[in-house]
Amino acid sequence: MSEISEKSRLRTENLNLYYGSRHALKDITMEIPSRAITAIIGPSGCGKSSLLRVFNRMNDLIPEARVEGNVYLDKISVYGEETDAVALRKKVGMVFQKPNPFPMSIFDNVVIGPRRHGVKHRDELESIAENCLRRVALWEDVKDNLRQSALNLPLGTQQQLCIARTLAIEPEVILMDESCSALDPESTMRVEELMTELAQSYTIMIVTHSMEQAARVSDMSAFMMIDDEKIGRLVEYGTTEQIFSTPKDKRTEDYITGRYG
Ligand SMILES: Nc1ncnc2c1ncn2[C@@H]1O[C@H](COP(=O)(O)OP(=O)(O)O)[C@@H](O)[C@H]1O
Ligand SMILES: [Mg+2]
Repeated sequence: MSEISEKSRLRTENLNLYYGSRHALKDITMEIPSRAITAIIGPSGCGKSSLLRVFNRMNDLIPEARVEGNVYLDKISVYGEETDAVALRKKVGMVFQKPNPFPMSIFDNVVIGPRRHGVKHRDELESIAENCLRRVALWEDVKDNLRQSALNLPLGTQQQLCIARTLAIEPEVILMDESCSALDPESTMRVEELMTELAQSYTIMIVTHSMEQAARVSDMSAFMMIDDEKIGRLVEYGTTEQIFSTPKDKRTEDYITGRYG
């Protein structure tokens, strides 16, 4: 086992992922730094979502999915026998493409995680809700409507709420799978600002199909593509500045300059 570098939070070593007989990710070795945004980019179907789901074991929910190799969150072996997937998902929160608030009030949405984990006191729940809604810059907008259904909020606000709900479980890592792709440009900007702000305290990984977004918000970029056997590979990984200004691989260059994808 190689040394875990000080600054890396998540790490994969020779990661392979299979869906039944379909080999979806091949030999992925990468280190993801803490307090930074790492973007996964690449054409549709190259395995971006599959890779993201490896980090909180969401692939466990797909019966035929199988992982080989090592994945670490700090010193915890994510797929280690002693590792509890539910406890792991508390450390590694996820925000999805389509905002998915639960059919309940704004307040209840934010505190559902802490409630499930046994927080009962009203005062404590209220302070968690306020704190998390402030962190996503929603508090002033919703503080007088906390009892209203979250489903009536505009889409962009719903996504901010879903981020607040994720923060309420006090994660260390936040995974975002195309979390802006259902949003209008203004909401997208708001969520991007939020990502940048959250990156000061959390390890953030995003999947995005927008090169502009990756270039705007991320610190590190990972370019993936399928190989000749249609298996997802990590083609190039580096600082966003390097990937976008001096890509080493011709395929990366072709992709970021829009020659395909
Ligand atoms: N639940 C699943 N069962 C079987 N194959 C899957 C499943 N999810 C994804 N795949 C396959 O894995 C490959 C990568 O998919 P995905 O990770 O969704 O790519 P991306 O997010 O880059 O579009 C695709 O060929 C896809 O069909
Ligand atoms: Mg995807």
